[in-house]
Amino acid sequence: MTSPLHFIYILLLILIFLILITFFYSVVRAISWVPMWSKDLIRVLNLAQIKPGQKFYDLGCGDGKMILAAAKAGAQAEGFEISVLPYIVAKIRQIFSKEKVKIKFRDFWLVDLSRADIVFFFLIPRIYPKLKNKLNKELKPGAKVIAYVWPIDGWEPTQIDKVLNRPTIYLYEIK
Ligand SMILES: C[S@@+](CC[C@H](N)C(=O)[O-])C[C@H]1O[C@@H](n2cnc3c(N)ncnc32)[C@H](O)[C@@H]1O
Repeated sequence: MTSPLHFIYILLLILIFLILITFFYSVVRAISWVPMWSKDLIRVLNLAQIKPGQKFYDLGCGDGKMILAAAKAGAQAEGFEISVLPYIVAKIRQIFSKEKVKIKFRDFWLVDLSRADIVFFFLIPRIYPKLKNKLNKELKPGAKVIAYVWPIDGWEPTQIDKVLNRPTIYLYEIK
């Protein structure tokens, strides 16, 4: 007979296994979980200039703090996350927040971006060529793209937010 302790032990092992597998998967698909600076949330919001009800997506939403801040600013915010650990942290944050956001355990490469008004990401430039194609193909004219840390090669930013000793943030608009 399996004791309750044995059962918990197996569950923990499965959870650790899932955390590790999805961690490596996220590295292969884009980048692992490195949270953005909380101080930079307001900088992103200033660039985004969210109008009530606009759709704000975070591709690889990590612990969800960006989408919660966007929701507080009036957006319908959605985050997509493929790594189990940050996804759980984001879900816990959501429970303790009064903001309404959607946090989906999903590979953002498979998400249709056509309804987004603002797309934010903190991802590595290695995947930018593929991401650029996706954004160009799916985003509607006028949609905003906000890139944290690294600029998008070949795109002309509408605005650049540069602060000493802090990551630069780039705003683009789809023509
Ligand atoms: C550098 S972190 C940024 C987290 C969050 N956006 C922030 O700014 O704090 C990138 C996140 O993207 C997630 N990620 C990487 N590839 C992904 C994919 N294909 N689909 C969904 N999430 C992905 C990683 O697990 C990680 O949490």
